[in-house]
Formats: sequence, structure tokens, C-alpha cells
Amino acid sequence: MKALILVGGFGTRLRPLTLSVPKPLVEFANKPMILHQIEALKAIGVTEVVLAVNYQPEVMLNFLTDFEAKLGIKITCSQETEPLGTAGPLALARDKLVDDSREPFFVLNSDVISEYPLKEMIEFHKAHGGEASIMVTKVEEPSKYGVVVMEETTGKVERFVEKPKIFVGNKINAGIYLLNPSVLDMIQLRPTSIEKEVFPKIAAEQNLYAMVLPGFWMDIGQPRDYIKGLSLYLDSIRNKSPSKLASGSHIVGNVLIDESAVIKDGCLIGPDVAIGPGCIVESGVRLSRCTLMTEARVKMHSCISSSIIGWHSTVGQWARVENMTILGEDVHVCDEIYSNGGVVLPHKEIKCSILHPEIVM
Ligand code: GDD
Repeated sequence: MKALILVGGFGTRLRPLTLSVPKPLVEFANKPMILHQIEALKAIGVTEVVLAVNYQPEVMLNFLTDFEAKLGIKITCSQETEPLGTAGPLALARDKLVDDSREPFFVLNSDVISEYPLKEMIEFHKAHGGEASIMVTKVEEPSKYGVVVMEETTGKVERFVEKPKIFVGNKINAGIYLLNPSVLDMIQLRPTSIEKEVFPKIAAEQNLYAMVLPGFWMDIGQPRDYIKGLSLYLDSIRNKSPSKLASGSHIVGNVLIDESAVIKDGCLIGPDVAIGPGCIVESGVRLSRCTLMTEARVKMHSCISSSIIGWHSTVGQWARVENMTILGEDVHVCDEIYSNGGVVLPHKEIKCSILHPEIVM
């Protein structure tokens, strides 16, 4: 079985992290976002993943070559010369997605984190016999998403409205699709939107079905949602495989610590913290609702909450970092500094406190 992941856009809302790597390679819960999806696809027997990219394919591929071997899955790129939207890339990758078996294939948006009940989705798809299945989830603010109006019992989609201006419902497109090859016959090789041009058409033909996603879902394309998404993700690990989470008298709630990270004495960590590979957390540190990316170092007695600390960054001793502070790659916050919502570009040294949310260039 094959899958395509839509990896477009420049990830501007996750800057400064995306100034160093393409968004799908930004770590989430200690590994690149896109690996969560590739691993879920591999787990249900997908043998080839096509990354539909419109910039920097070599960065993605260099990085993923290692994982290709480790996971035993083929990862290729289909590169656009101009952004083809959310449907055009499927037409471009047609030969990679369809073979003689005419099996359906998965399509995933790349900036989403969720449970991946993909096996159940295959069963659902077979059972309804339509051309396309989409996963939906309930949200409080549906206007930012594609909204689906469906028949509750069968899942048949009556209407698909992308980013509706007036309320039509609160079940939204979760960005996980299973499509028959016949759907490709409706898509031309030009910039085009699957949400605006393809799904409404398949729905009108009564061939689009929606399955309600059990469990959590979050679009983690911006920092606040990224931090919220981490909390939901860790909760789901607590339910499914609690032994993966850290435990001990220094841990509060759900905390994920990479085995190569070092945590010194007297720290209090949690809830909702991810500490990535090679990180060093010195003694007496307090961490809550935050992520430390690969090889970050937090010096003695500092306190970090509701923040993201980028790769190879350092937080000095007695520093206080909070309120959606985002440190890009290789940022150094000096001792005793306070950061209240500072968004700091890569390779900077912060010598003065940041008293109000601002971008530090
Ligand atoms: N290859 C490629 N080329 N990918 C693209 C392009 C492009 O030109 N444009 C967007 N993408 C990718 C994005 O990287 C993302 O993974 C996905 O397509 C959808 O991105 P957006 O077009 O930015 O849509 P959105 O995030 O505002 O809304 C989408 O996601 C919501 C769920 O988070 C839609 O699919 C909504 O219907 C959905 O509810």
C-alpha cells in the first residue's frame, strides 16, 4: 500500500524553528513531526511514502534516508516546480501512487498530530464502497478548517465546505484521507485544492464518506497549538503505553524523556514536558509545559514553562523563560535572564531580559 504526505508551505507560523529545517522535520515529542506519520503508516503495512514537496526536497531526503533503512520503508519525493496546492501534487505523483493492484492510497496533511486509526479507516473504506474516505474530528472553532456535514449513521458526506464564513457544523477535515485511484481522474496537473475542488464534487456524487477520528487531534502548525498538542499526545501515551513516560518523585504528570538525556538532581519536571536526545538538565531546574529539542542545555536553577527550546540552545542558570518563548536553533540565554514570550531567531545570544512578547532578530 502507498501513501502521500503533503509537505508544502514554508511553516512561517512555526518560525524561528522553521528557519533551520523544513516544518515536517521540526521535532515534536522528541522526533521529527513527519516521523510520527511515517511510523503510523509503516505500522499498518504501507511500503512506500511519497513526500509531495515544493521546496528543499534534498534536505528532507537526506534526513529521511536514515529512517528509510531503520523503518524498512521506501521514502521518495515528488517535487513541484510551482506550488500545486493540495490536489495538484496527487496528479503529479500519479505514477508513484497507482500500480496494477489499483489499491486505495493514503494522503496526509503534514502538520497534524493525532491518533492514527488507519487500519480502522481501511475497514471503513471497504465497508462503504465509495471512492474516498476522510477522517473528521470535532473542534470548537471550525471556521479555520474544512467543515464536513455528514449523515451520522452511514458517514456519507452531504457537504464539504472549506473555511466556511458561516457556521455549518463542527466536524472538520482532519487531513487524513484514503482515496481510490479513480479520484485521480478528477484532478488535473495544475495548482488546485482538494478541499475546494475535489471533495465537494465527490460528495455531490455521494461517493465521499467520513469517519469520526477516535482520540485526540491537533494541527500543530503554530506554537500555542504545538504546546497544546504535546499535552494531548502525552495523555494518549499515558493511556496506551504509560511505561514510555518518565516516573519518579521529580516528575509531575506526563513527561517524555529521551534515554540519552541527562537530568541532574533536585529538578521538578512536568506536566507536559518533552526532553529530547542529548539534552542536559542541570540540578534544581523546574520545567513545565515545554519542549527541549535535541542537545539543548538548561543550567542550574532555571525555570522554563510554556515554551519551546530549539536544538543546541542553552538557558543560563537562574534564568526564567515563559509565556510562549520560542528559542530557535543554537540560542544562548545568559544567566539570570527573564524571557516573557521572546521569539528568538537562531544563533543569538540573549544578554538582556525580554519583558514583553517580541521577536528578537
Ligand atoms: N506539496 C504541496 N504543495 N503541499 C501543499 C501545498 C502545495 O502547494 N499547499 C499546501 N500544502 C500542504 C501543507 O503543507 C499541509 O500539509 C496541507 O497541504 C494543507 O495545508 P494548507 O493548504 O495550509 O491548509 P490548512 O492547514 O489551512 O487546512 C487544511 O488542513 C486542515 C486541518 O488542519 C485543510 O485540509 C482543511 O480542510 C483541514 O481542516
